[in-house]
Amino acid sequence: MRTKVSTPLKGRRLLVAVSGSIAAVKTPLLVSALVKAGAEVRCLVTPSAAKLVSPLALATLSRHRCYGEDDEWDSSCSRPLHIDLADWAELILLAPLSATSLSRWSQGSADGLLASVLLACECPVLAAIAMNTAMWNHPAVQRNWELVQTFPGVVPLLPQPGLLACDRRGDGRMADPLLIELAATSLFSRGDAGPVAKLDWSGRRLLVTAGPTVEPIDQARLITNRSSGAMGVLLAQAARLRGAEVALVHGPLQVPEPWLESLHCHPVQSAAEMQMVLQQKQADVDAIAMAAAVADLRRVATGDVSTAGKAAKADLALRLSDGWELVPDLLQGLAARRPAMQLILGFAALTGEDAELLRRGEEKRLRKGCDLLFVNPIDRPGQGFGQARNGGWLLGNGWSKELPVTGKLQLAHQLLDALLALRQPSPASPVPADR
Ligand code: CTP
Repeated sequence: MRTKVSTPLKGRRLLVAVSGSIAAVKTPLLVSALVKAGAEVRCLVTPSAAKLVSPLALATLSRHRCYGEDDEWDSSCSRPLHIDLADWAELILLAPLSATSLSRWSQGSADGLLASVLLACECPVLAAIAMNTAMWNHPAVQRNWELVQTFPGVVPLLPQPGLLACDRRGDGRMADPLLIELAATSLFSRGDAGPVAKLDWSGRRLLVTAGPTVEPIDQARLITNRSSGAMGVLLAQAARLRGAEVALVHGPLQVPEPWLESLHCHPVQSAAEMQMVLQQKQADVDAIAMAAAVADLRRVATGDVSTAGKAAKADLALRLSDGWELVPDLLQGLAARRPAMQLILGFAALTGEDAELLRRGEEKRLRKGCDLLFVNPIDRPGQGFGQARNGGWLLGNGWSKELPVTGKLQLAHQLLDALLALRQPSPASPVPADR
């Protein structure tokens, strides 16, 4: 298998524009993360933002001077600054976007450096809105927010619930800097040419499973596996950033918590709990992606094992050798019950030579009844469980396609492209088959 090295933000030109919301105090963390990811970052602050966050901190972290309102019509510049910045940026991150800046943007006002840049730019804009809950719920703000989403290239990042600086609880917090960084990375993960902001999953509902399931041996001990849940969570978040409504059913995860923002999350432990949620949700979705690593064995049901005490060490060998059953195949059950037009993507972590992986993968795809199966070898260095990268083969009905090792977010986009391609009316599938 070929290995493709790529860090999506490396060398990319990002303009971080900060407007007057208290969430601006978190923007330096975002700038620092973007610079560490290899991006070239410029910062711009509105006059209100400059009162909340230090332009010096932003300049230091971005390794470049931070622009403010007074720089706009500087007679020492040969070109207007707002045109220069708009032409320079490959992506603009509004972090945070305040009610005032939203209003100016939605009305097409050129009042101020930020407003002028937003009128002059032709690149995608990632908008992380933040304000007090009552302000956010005001019809005028909602109308402006709806309006800017009709502008080309706008990717919205919704306000998050929580305790606000005004001591109220509700929606209004800016998306976490880690999520904003993930969203920026996601836009640059759909090809090498530049950011892609197409909301092509808009109006579609996706159900994703992620992480391991956990089966109790007794009250103290567990059976589980090495899955971190990263592949499933990134797939869920990539789809959401492409406009999908996404429900995520997950076991214990080892991913940054902000990566779960704006997903409808259903945490579970056992395969039985996962199965129950999947059955409740199945009828409401257009596609299902089973990225969870479901545990293979569980105690034969004799009451709640997890509260039935801890087995003595001397009894453990017997406890482990007796009274177990195979966990039913959740994917197979979903495929058997699926409504017409629902698509199912499965995953298979396998070991062995390429030809053997493809043969076993195809047998598994047919047995489980899924439309697509992503097969990835887990016995090769630098990919798979617990790694940032993954690669393998995507198997469909009568075709297979190699997906070279790449970042899990890039892979997630390729899998979403393949699912969409199955729903496109054109006979020319965008997934070119190797065979
Ligand atoms: N899967 C499932 N329910 C199970 C086991 C697996 O839904 N009890 C799903 C996984 O989420 C994944 C796919 O089936 O999408 C393949 O997982 P894998 O572990 O390869 O399947 P097994 O059937 O357990 O494979 P094997 O017999 O090779 O161990």
